[in-house]
Amino acid sequence: MIYDIEVNNRKIKAYRGETILSALQRNGIIVPTLCFMKDLSPTGACRMCVVEVEGEKNLVTACSHTVEEWMKIYTHSLKVINTRKLIIEMLLASHPDECLYCIRNTNCELQKYTAELNVSERRFNNFSERKKNDVSGAGISYEPSKCILCGRCVRVCDEIQGVNTIDFIKRGISTIINPSFSKSISNSNCIYCGQCVRVCPTAALTGKNHIPYVLKNVHKQNTKLVAQCSPAVAISIAEEFGVKAGKDFSGQMVTALKKCGFDAVFDTSVSIDLHIYETAKIIAEKIKNNDKTTLFSSSCPAWVKYAEQSDFDLSRLSIIKSPQQIMATLIKTLYAQNVNIKPENIFSVSISPCLAKKYEAQREEHSQNIYNEVDAVLSVRELARLIKLSGIDFLKCEPAPFDEPFNIRSSASNLYAVSGGEAESILRTVIFMLTGKETKDNTYTKLRGFKDIKEISVKAGIYDINFAVVNGIKNIHKLLDEIKTCKRHYDFVEIMSCSGGCINGGGQPLKTSVEDLKLRTKIIYENDKKDVINKAHKSPFVNDFYNDTLNRLQLVTSFDELFKTSYKYKKVLN
Ligand code: SF4
Ligand code: SF4
Ligand code: FES
Repeated sequence: MIYDIEVNNRKIKAYRGETILSALQRNGIIVPTLCFMKDLSPTGACRMCVVEVEGEKNLVTACSHTVEEWMKIYTHSLKVINTRKLIIEMLLASHPDECLYCIRNTNCELQKYTAELNVSERRFNNFSERKKNDVSGAGISYEPSKCILCGRCVRVCDEIQGVNTIDFIKRGISTIINPSFSKSISNSNCIYCGQCVRVCPTAALTGKNHIPYVLKNVHKQNTKLVAQCSPAVAISIAEEFGVKAGKDFSGQMVTALKKCGFDAVFDTSVSIDLHIYETAKIIAEKIKNNDKTTLFSSSCPAWVKYAEQSDFDLSRLSIIKSPQQIMATLIKTLYAQNVNIKPENIFSVSISPCLAKKYEAQREEHSQNIYNEVDAVLSVRELARLIKLSGIDFLKCEPAPFDEPFNIRSSASNLYAVSGGEAESILRTVIFMLTGKETKDNTYTKLRGFKDIKEISVKAGIYDINFAVVNGIKNIHKLLDEIKTCKRHYDFVEIMSCSGGCINGGGQPLKTSVEDLKLRTKIIYENDKKDVINKAHKSPFVNDFYNDTLNRLQLVTSFDELFKTSYKYKKVLN
């Protein structure tokens, strides 16, 4: 039911049952919020959204109060403004005055409201001691002195991700956000998805900074600085320079990286094609042998960490390395041979939408041989900072192609950026492997979109293929329960920890809206539709690899050594 309410002496429409905040926002009336997050339970913790309701003794929080037909509301009365100002002043009282040196300078919600509410001096002295930072995590860091205890991170980790790593601990002015039992991040069950970092309004939670490692290796004597770029980066990097989502800037990105000092820039999509091919081989073989075990994907490192910390049967995880690690291996073997340089003299940087990739690069399986496979991982946000730091006008960069030999890919590889894309691209190649024929229509819409669980059954000659997709780590148990209770069988299950896939990864631009996600998804599928090489097994790189390159590599070491990995149970308390 719709009715009129009065706001600031004007009538606006409101729906029965909605919150005051929702009615105000829909009618274009802006009220500041800090703890509020759309679609998550309101906590009323920060009180920034207070408004005056005629007849009510106290101000009410707009985010948690339901609108009533009789209401006359004042959103910016003197009483309201002074209260909001006082809230900001109290937050600043225990916040360090370090804006100039802060990673979120000019991009911080606390700073924004301080300016908007005309807070121009410190009225209250800092009453809290500086708290110890937690920099132990491979993917994220926490600086409690900058935390305003809004609890957004706690709700995202619990309600969206279902991981439940962090919560409020201690009391009064000692309260902080922490993993349970006061554990450090590195000893907790955090999977480094980075979704908490994306919602934090200040710089309390940040992605691990790898820019200094890269800078140390720019123009360093006897060192080749090499980058690989994930397909989910090219379609969002320009947003950091003010461009609307939905455009592919891979060419400009290559040029910008060269200007930053990189000697070679490669496309991770090339190793995705190899990943598709190898995974499809395993699945096709299983189907031919009527083997009813399910293969679970392992290209999302946050999911792999989650699986290793749970009672999941690790023998069901694919042992093919992730695309990042396959490309890194190729760089330190094939590329090193090509340019006649020792692998340890290559500094290999992965540009990724994902903070968990920083963790993956440091896993002992990938870093305790003679050399690290990946030496540093930059998120989309870090790449933008590096470009700005290097004085490059990104939008004026002339597009350039990726460097040989890792520059030719199928459009199927780019689907890995979205939820369901890994399953769809593998399915295209499995069908070919089972039937020996190419299908005319390669679009599998059942695997697309933002549903929690997606599934598809396809007939390929005499064979049935059954795939499922888990969109968001929280949904894994739904699928595992379904497999147990309904005795459902899937040949392959794709799992992406971040809802929507890597286009929504923890390293993507902070202010990503649902609209941005849709536009990023759209460009991926549009590019796929236009591309003539739209299956991994049709990529010339893949064909050359199996006809020639692999033999050369195998002279030095085995296929398994190069491209397979292993997993171990990890005990964590939570
Ligand atoms: S990175 Fe992910 S799992 Fe870790 S605390 Fe943040 S939201 Fe939770
Ligand atoms: S870490 Fe950030 S999101 Fe979490 S409570 Fe503190 S300020 Fe809020
Ligand atoms: S935004 Fe409403 S109480 Fe925090």
